[in-house]
Amino acid sequence: MDLSDLTRDLEGLRDSSLASIAASPDVATLEGLELDVLGKKGRLTGILRGIGALPGEDRPRVGAIANGVRTAIEAALLERGTALRGSALADRLLAETVDITTPGRPIRRGTLHPINETIAEIASIFGQFGFVTYEGPEIEDDVRNFQMLNIPPDHPARDLWDTLYVDVEGQLLRTHTSPGQIHVMHTERPPIRALLPGRCFRYESIDASHASEFFQVEGLMVDEGTTLGDLKGLLDQFAKAMYGADKRTRFRPGYYPFTEPSVAFDVECLVCGGSGCPACSRSGWMTILGAGMVHPVVLQFGGLDPERYQGFAFGMGVERIANLRHSVGDLRLYMENDLRFLEQFR
Ligand code: PHE
Repeated sequence: MDLSDLTRDLEGLRDSSLASIAASPDVATLEGLELDVLGKKGRLTGILRGIGALPGEDRPRVGAIANGVRTAIEAALLERGTALRGSALADRLLAETVDITTPGRPIRRGTLHPINETIAEIASIFGQFGFVTYEGPEIEDDVRNFQMLNIPPDHPARDLWDTLYVDVEGQLLRTHTSPGQIHVMHTERPPIRALLPGRCFRYESIDASHASEFFQVEGLMVDEGTTLGDLKGLLDQFAKAMYGADKRTRFRPGYYPFTEPSVAFDVECLVCGGSGCPACSRSGWMTILGAGMVHPVVLQFGGLDPERYQGFAFGMGVERIANLRHSVGDLRLYMENDLRFLEQFR
């Protein structure tokens, strides 16, 4: 190996490399080539290993030629690389064109369940009268569900509620939202204006108008000087906001152990307007809730002095209200989670 051999090898490497670089079809091939020629174990290094055999005065000259070859190859790699990357980008831009005239895909939007939507509507109407929403537990004790509501063990009024008991002594699934009255009286001081929506449970054989799970909204107001007239005015305003300003309402006597006096509250039939039809059993009226003045015994169990405070309470079935709003005839639809039903409430 002498100077001219080495020079020839270097020039040969340069020419063949430049040709391969020019012919590289893509960036990956080019990178493989770079490693093969200029890499640590590459061909240029291989040739330069021969330098050691040369006489001392020849070595700088080979060094100069080798540098020239390296610079030429690097410049060619850079140029070809830039060209290849540019056209790769151009290809991608072409392949990935977005047709901005295509119509967008609709975004699927959920909706409130008709029961939740009805509760929200009820809460917003009573909210305008200062009622604040609370929630009580679904598993209650016998004491709050019955006894503190003036329904002692063995009282015949218990027959009004077919109760589902749980495996823990004294615990049951609440049969109504009225135990929420006790919770609120124990945690808040008058004036109290509470709304208590929630799921209730009763042992029922299930059909279109009976379910073992259903929703109620309880209302409770306690203050000094609260009267039955306040209750009547409030419920009348509620019915007019819910069903229309022209709707007539009425109180009828009712019975609940925890209110005295107790009333049933009716709105004129939304189907026939009062003339009588099958929907209202020809009475012209529809009962939408039960209510009354909180019994003094219940105020006492709530820790309030009945000499000083009076209150009223009401409780309504949410499904019944939703049925009237949406003309739904079967309670079971609310629990089946059938999208064909639910999607109608948009
Ligand atoms: N809790 C009663 C029921 O379940 C409704 C009610 C609530 C009546 C409050 C009067 C006062 O039927």
